[in-house]
Amino acid sequence: MNSVWWASEDFWRKMAVWLTAVMTVVLILLTFDTVKQITAGSERVPAYSAINHRIYYRFDSSRNMQVPVIGDSAPLFGTSLSEEDAEALVSKGKLTTQAKNCMNCHTLLGNGAYYAPDLTKAWLDPAWGSEAAREQLMVNFLLDPHTNARGYGTGRKMPNLGITEEEAHGVVAFLKWMSTIDTNGFPRNFTPISQEGDR
Ligand code: HEC
Repeated sequence: MNSVWWASEDFWRKMAVWLTAVMTVVLILLTFDTVKQITAGSERVPAYSAINHRIYYRFDSSRNMQVPVIGDSAPLFGTSLSEEDAEALVSKGKLTTQAKNCMNCHTLLGNGAYYAPDLTKAWLDPAWGSEAAREQLMVNFLLDPHTNARGYGTGRKMPNLGITEEEAHGVVAFLKWMSTIDTNGFPRNFTPISQEGDR
């Protein structure tokens, strides 16, 4: 029974208790760090007022991927919003995407279903045709996806989800804001809408 100290049951029991306690502390610290990094206004997740600016993509050769750039002033729907108002509008859009369960068909930041296109960069989808007309086209599409069906050759149609005009504005703000997030190149092979004189 007189085995060496490191082979005793008692030693390993204490070790397990200590490890669990230490790792719990590490987990708590990492959680705080993650929350800091995913909060709007951090380096990777821009502040909500980014919707007052033009969003475009620039190829970063050191990272070998497209990264979002927040450019000159280009207020959404022609109105520059304060940080609080921008947050309220984006939140309205986010809550609408949750209430209407867009993830049932779409992916947002990679989460969701694969029936319909990923919405992470929908704001910069070249299929909207024109940079200037896009915000109104998006609102029209959300209010009446049947008449304004886009198709992409799949024949799949988005149902009319009974979104109000106010909610549609929020969703477009949410999608514009989401396109500013540096997603490490996700989705891959993404080509942003051509924008006159990218700056
Ligand atoms: C039942 C499935 C379904 C649900 C739920 C759904 N969509 Fe769609 N959506 C589609 C399909 C299919 C398309 C592609 C066909 C089209 O664009 O006409 C699409 C296209 C889109 C596009 C255009 C994408 C692009 O990159 O140009 C946007 C934006 C969009 N949906 C937003 C939403 C939002 C916001 C919600 C939730 C409020 C939502 N969708 C819920 C099926 C769905």
